[in-house]
Amino acid sequence: MKPNSLELCKKAAAEKAVEENITENMVIGVGSGSTVIYAVKKIAEMDKSHNLKVKCIPTSFQSSQLIIENELKLASLDQYPLLDLTIDGADEIDEDLNLIKGGGGCLVQEKILASNSKALIIIADYRKKSEFLGENWKTGIPIEIIPLAYVPLMKKMEKLGGKPQLRMAKAKAGPVITDNGNFIIDVDFGILKNPLKLNNKLNTIPGVVDTGLFIGMVSKAFIGQKDGSTLVLEGKNL
Ligand code: 5RP
Repeated sequence: MKPNSLELCKKAAAEKAVEENITENMVIGVGSGSTVIYAVKKIAEMDKSHNLKVKCIPTSFQSSQLIIENELKLASLDQYPLLDLTIDGADEIDEDLNLIKGGGGCLVQEKILASNSKALIIIADYRKKSEFLGENWKTGIPIEIIPLAYVPLMKKMEKLGGKPQLRMAKAKAGPVITDNGNFIIDVDFGILKNPLKLNNKLNTIPGVVDTGLFIGMVSKAFIGQKDGSTLVLEGKNL
């Protein structure tokens, strides 16, 4: 493989997803991460060349900056509570197109936008696809939590059979603080044969804001392949 071929896979998937799904006047949720950068550039190019007049709602500080830098119209959920679609990346995608998300720490806003969108379009490279969640993504399920609950929550995750780790910042002493002012714990539950059951259990624990498990939410996944082609898979939410 050439050194930049992974980036080419991401770019091909992102551009195909945008070309096939973005039309005039759409309200678009803009996800977070490195693959979404290619999608935003393509949306901006089409918006200018075809005068599409799309409105873009961000899922993070990063995607807000991306929308502004690419001179797209920045909008909010207050103005547009029902989105035409959200386009976003993923950390792992299973056979049923359930996802692990939150590698970039933006899972809460990503899930809010996805759940208020008519369609969720996922863009990713071939490394993200597996049979079961937890097969390739080994750092655990990202879970956003209220900071004061972090010690009891770590113990509760262990009782549920998980191995929790508080996500630490790289260029600052102490934990990562999310765009919502919370902590993230990454909890390794091994390979997930029933992610829905686990997600339901985790979301009933006080102090858990939300998990990076996105179950049955995907409409289509565009997955960039090693040979430069893009595999398109249809999900339950089509
Ligand atoms: C951020 C996410 C991202 O979508 C996910 O981490 C994928 O990122 P990338 O496109 O850089 O692989 O969930 O919270």
